[in-house]
Amino acid sequence: MGTRVRRRRKRRRRKAAYTGLFILLFLAVMAMITHCIFLLHGHSVLSKSYYYNKESNIVMGDIVSIKVENPKVLLVNKEHELPADYVPENLVMPDVEFAANAAEERRYMDETASEALEELFAGAKEDGVEMVGVSGYRSYNTQSSIYYRNLRRNGYGYTSIYSAQPGKSEHQTGLAIDVSCAEIGYQLYSRFAQTKEGIWLQEHCEEYGFIIRYPENKTDITGYAYEPWHIRYVGVKVAQYLKLHDITLDEYSKAMGYEEFYDVPSEFN
Ligand code: DAL
Ligand code: ZN
Repeated sequence: MGTRVRRRRKRRRRKAAYTGLFILLFLAVMAMITHCIFLLHGHSVLSKSYYYNKESNIVMGDIVSIKVENPKVLLVNKEHELPADYVPENLVMPDVEFAANAAEERRYMDETASEALEELFAGAKEDGVEMVGVSGYRSYNTQSSIYYRNLRRNGYGYTSIYSAQPGKSEHQTGLAIDVSCAEIGYQLYSRFAQTKEGIWLQEHCEEYGFIIRYPENKTDITGYAYEPWHIRYVGVKVAQYLKLHDITLDEYSKAMGYEEFYDVPSEFN
């Protein structure tokens, strides 16, 4: 083989090696940029105000404090978040059936919400409807794992409408729970809305003080896709009021001027 041919081959191999190296570097830089965007996004939204239970002893710093007359109507959404160390004081385990794989932490709820949930499950059972709890209370750290895992697996578009960022999930209040049933393998699927259990829940949950927190066609208001499985305890009067007027908790609190939205409207007093 001639020297020129060998040189040409050597040059080609070197070129291929440089190209490979360049592609690897490019991918690494892109991955770093994507990671930074997610981190920056997380931080920019983590600096806003939140509303919380007046009984809790949270160090407020410069975050807006609002007096809450009825802590069960606590508002947590994309604009109103909880501090990372917020843990409800009165977490208890409702005496209801849970999905076999439900982690222990997620079997807890705020005590009042827990009692209401027990009544709701009992009422459902009387009507021949059997639900299970899937995910109740979730700490800030648990929500953080869920959110970032979802982000890695499903991307930002999907995650932003199905998963709350840490500190912005109602599950951290202990007032919300995801429920499911045997027909859909105890999963959290939109199909739950068409099951006997999902239909019963839509028709009766307000009688027990719960609302379907993220209703269909309200994504522009709530910021989340339809979640027929996510129920939120607000107390019977507010739940009935929201259902009657077909409004979300976000709209209600805004209309009531936030500071007063915890008061039950006079027509329900
Ligand atoms: N899926 C609801 C929005 C949450 O993550 O709290
Ligand atoms: Zn939920």
